[in-house]
Amino acid sequence: MIGTRNASQDAISLEDKYGAHNYHPLPVVLNKGEGVFLWGVDGKRYYDFLSAYSAVNQGHCHPRIVNALIEQAKQLTLTSRAFYNDKLGVAEKYVCDTFGYDKALFMNSGAEANETAIKLARKWGYQVKGIPENEAVIVAVSQNFHGRTTTIISASTDPSARTGFGPYMPGFRIIPFDDRAALESALNDPNVCALWMEPIQGEAGVFIPQPGYLKAAAELCSRYNVLLMADEIQTGIARTGKMLACDHENVRPDLLILGKALSGGMLPVSLVLADDEVMLVIKPGEHGSTFGGNPLAAVVCVEALEVVKEEDLAGNAARLGVVFRQRITELISRTKLISAVRGKGLLNAIVVNDTAESSTAWDICMSLMHEGLLAKPTHGNIIRLAPPLVITEEQLHECCDIIERVFLAFKKK
Ligand SMILES: Cc1ncc(COP(=O)(O)O)c(C=O)c1O
Repeated sequence: MIGTRNASQDAISLEDKYGAHNYHPLPVVLNKGEGVFLWGVDGKRYYDFLSAYSAVNQGHCHPRIVNALIEQAKQLTLTSRAFYNDKLGVAEKYVCDTFGYDKALFMNSGAEANETAIKLARKWGYQVKGIPENEAVIVAVSQNFHGRTTTIISASTDPSARTGFGPYMPGFRIIPFDDRAALESALNDPNVCALWMEPIQGEAGVFIPQPGYLKAAAELCSRYNVLLMADEIQTGIARTGKMLACDHENVRPDLLILGKALSGGMLPVSLVLADDEVMLVIKPGEHGSTFGGNPLAAVVCVEALEVVKEEDLAGNAARLGVVFRQRITELISRTKLISAVRGKGLLNAIVVNDTAESSTAWDICMSLMHEGLLAKPTHGNIIRLAPPLVITEEQLHECCDIIERVFLAFKKK
C-alpha cells in the first residue's frame, strides 16, 4: 500500500514538474478502465461519471472497438491523404448513411472539426450566398464551448478561455443563449453565413434551451438563407438519449460537427457532415490534416458507431437519465446543498447551492472520489454527471446511493 501511495504521488509530481499546468485534475492517478469503471494505481475502483467529457460513451476499452483498433493497427495505420486507403471511403459512406448527409470530412480533434465547419460556412457564404469577400459573419451563442484554437476562442465569452490570447479573429457576432428575438435580429443580416451552436451547452454547465428553440433556430436559418452549424461533439452519439441532441426536435443541421465518442475514446476522430452544396465549396489543397481520415480512425469510427446502435445506447441513456433525475430530485428535498438538477439522457448536472467562486463543488467531488465515483465541477458550482452509456440500472442506483451519501454527510468548510 505504501508503494502504491508513492506511485500516485510520483505520477502527480512528474506531471506537475514536466507538464504544462493547463489543467487542474482531481488528485487520482488512473491506470485501467473497463466499461463504466476506472481503476487507480492503488487498485481502487471508481465509477467514471465524466466519460472523458463524453468521449467514452461506449464504456472504457470496449472489446469490440479495441479489437478493431488492434486488427487495423497490424495492417495499416496512416497513408496521409496523398493516396487513397481502402477504409476511408467505407467510413465516409457509413457516417453519411447513419446521419443522412451527402458527404463527410474527417479530422481529429473537436476543435479541428469546428474550424473545418467555420471554413466551409465562410466559403459557402462567399460562393453560394454571395456575401462580399471577407465580410462573412458567423453568429455564435454566449457561454458556448467549441474548443481552444485562437479562432474558436475569438467567439468565446468565457474570460478564462480568452484573456491574454488576443488579438481575436473577427467575423463573429455573439447573441444571448436561448433568446429567439436576438436570434431573429442577428440572422436578418445579409452577411451572416452561419449560426453556430451546441444544441445543449455541455461545458457551460448543461444548459438546455426552451423546447422549440432549436426548431425555431432551424426555421429562421432557412428563412434567412443561413447555415445551421450544430456542434454535437459532446451531445451527439447517444449521450442525450437520441443519436443526436438535434433529433429531439427533428432538426437537421446543415453542418453537423461530431467528435469525441466517434472513436469510443480510442484515438482522436472528428468530422463534419454536410450536403454537396456546402461540402464541395472546398477544393483540393484548401483544407486537410495529415492524420484526418486515416485508416485506423476510419475502422475505429465505424465499429464505435456500430456498438452505439447495436447496444441501443441512446435508449439506455434516455431511460436511465429519467431514473437519475428522479433520484436527485428526491435528494433535493433532503438537502439544501443542491439547488437544481437538469439534463437530458445521461448528460446531467447538479447545481451546488453556493457561489461559483466557492470550493464547495470541488470539495464534494473530492468526497465523491473517496467514495469511488469520479466527477468534476464545470464552471464553479456545477457538477456534470455523465457516465458511460453502458451503465446498468443497478449500477446507476448504486451511484445515486453514493451521491446521496456524500451530499447528506457533507459539511461545508
Ligand atoms: C461542444 C464541444 N465542442 C468542441 C469541443 C472540443 O473538442 P476537442 O477537445 O476534441 O478539441 C468540446 C470539448 O469538450 C465540446 O464539448
